This record gives sequence, structure tokens and C-alpha cells, in this order.
Amino acid sequence: MKEQVWLQELIDHLHSKHASNFEGEIATYIPELSKADPAHFGAAFVTSNGSIVEAGTADVCFTIQSISKPLTYGMALEAFGEDEVAKYVGVEPSGDAFNSIELEKLSNRPFNPMVNAGAITVTAMLYQKYGDNTFHEIMSRFSAAAGRQLEFDEDVYRSESRTGHRNRAIAYLLLNFGMVPDQVEAALDIYFKQCSILVNCRDLATIAATLSNLGKNPVTQTEVFDIDRVKDMLSIMFTCGMYDYSGQWAYRVGVPAKSGVSGGVMSVVNRQLGIATYSPLLDSKGNSCRGIRLCTDLAQELGLHVF
Ligand code: DON
Repeated sequence: MKEQVWLQELIDHLHSKHASNFEGEIATYIPELSKADPAHFGAAFVTSNGSIVEAGTADVCFTIQSISKPLTYGMALEAFGEDEVAKYVGVEPSGDAFNSIELEKLSNRPFNPMVNAGAITVTAMLYQKYGDNTFHEIMSRFSAAAGRQLEFDEDVYRSESRTGHRNRAIAYLLLNFGMVPDQVEAALDIYFKQCSILVNCRDLATIAATLSNLGKNPVTQTEVFDIDRVKDMLSIMFTCGMYDYSGQWAYRVGVPAKSGVSGGVMSVVNRQLGIATYSPLLDSKGNSCRGIRLCTDLAQELGLHVF
């Protein structure tokens, strides 16, 4: 109870410190995302023993976007094993933007599963395993991690599917190099849908807390991810989760995290805390400005850095 009170004070303090900061821009390359409200700013923490605190617009839903990537990567590792997945996706930071068309020189693999090329490959692998049930499998796993049945945003999905020419180009390049099987359009369709799954800060902090709690949702007590794969998911988030800001994030904040272009950030404090923020105003690398500021302060305040 005491823990809950001081965590609530902390989240309120950090939220109010950054609420009036309107730096950054809303993503517009997926037309539907441009409708986001720049005033929306929410945060939630879920501890490994299931306590929840929230501040601001923590119940406003937004599309999960790239925060889906470590989760589908974990599912692919469980389905195929590390060695098989490693034939098609690397684990090296690319130093490039999330939508980069670059592939590794000798292997032609995407650099890692956090850039679009890697995430599309992972979804194509899941499609090989689950076929037409793939999106259902993804939705059920994400829902188990969030602790409630999630839905997806039909309008954002259609908007991205209609305008996602760059992702289509990436997928066909991957097909050219034999990194994905020839059902490219089916894999892309699932990828666009997985990015359109709706979460709020409470959901996202619960997903983060599930990872921090070694794969078991601390609120519902459901085993969601294989404990051995959680280590892989967190390692990739630590090195590649914030795109070409990952190095600076590791330096300043020092915990695994993943951002998405709709404005969510999910951070994981191993065995202790899941953190989520939402604010659609992004910096030039596609990360939420308020999210970065709040997490940087939080890490300093609580000494969260792993080193
Ligand atoms: O594929 C895309 O471009 C989006 N659906 C997801 C990208 C994303 O969230 C990048 N985040 N910073």
C-alpha cells in the first residue's frame, strides 16, 4: 500500500512536469495517425507484484505500432527456436531509421527484428507457422500480456495498408533475397494489422510488467511468454528498441524499451516494473518526446540504470 502511494506521487509529479511541453510533431506518414490529439499525455506503472498507478490520459487508446515487434519476435522464437529465426533476422543494431531498406551485406538478412524489415520477416515466419490464424494468435498473445481482450483499429490498419508502399517495397526486397516466403501480401496484411492493435497506457505497462516478471502477467498471473525467450526479447529491446536513439537511451535511461510512431513507449525494469507512456508528439527519430523525458527523469530518480 505504501509503495502504491509513493509511486502515485512520483508518476503525478513526472507527468505534471512534462504535460505542458509541446515539442515534437505527430506522425503523418500513416494518414490516420495525424488525427491524434497533441494534448494527450498518459503514463502508467505496473509493478512485478501487480500494483498499478496511472497519470494523465492513461486510458486513451492508441495503436501499438512498433511496440508489437519485440512481442512477435518472442512468438517466432518460441515457434521456431533461436537458430532458425537467426537464419532470417539478425540481432545487430542498424544505426539506421526504422524504415531503412538496408539489409546485412553478406547474409541479406534484416539487421534486427525492431526495424520494419526485420519485423515483417518475423511476421512472415509466424504466417508460415499459423497461416490464416496468425493474426488471431498475435491478438490472443498480446491480450494475455495486457490482461484484457484487445481490439484493433480498422481505420489505422486500412490507412497503413493503402499507403504502406515503402513496407511493401521492403517486403518484396526480402522476397527477392529469399528471406520471406512468397505469400508476401498475406504477411504484410498481418503486419499492418498487428501495428493497429489498440492499447492504452495501463495495457502497455501491464505488457511491460509481464516482460519484467519473466513472462508471467503479474496482474492476472497468466504465463504469457516463455521465460527463456523473454531474455532474448529484452536484449533486442535494449540494443535496438529506440531505433537510432537506442545508444543514447541505453546510456541515459539504461533499461530495455520499445517505442512506436503513434507515440507509445514501453520500458522494462527487470523483475521490478513495467512502464508505459503515451504522447503522440515525436522527435525526428520517431520516438515520443514526452515519453523520453519522463523515462529519463524516472530512471534518474529511481536509479534504474542496469549498470
Ligand atoms: O511499419 C510502420 O511504419 C509502422 N506500422 C510502425 C513503425 C513504428 O512504429 C516506428 N516507430 N517508431
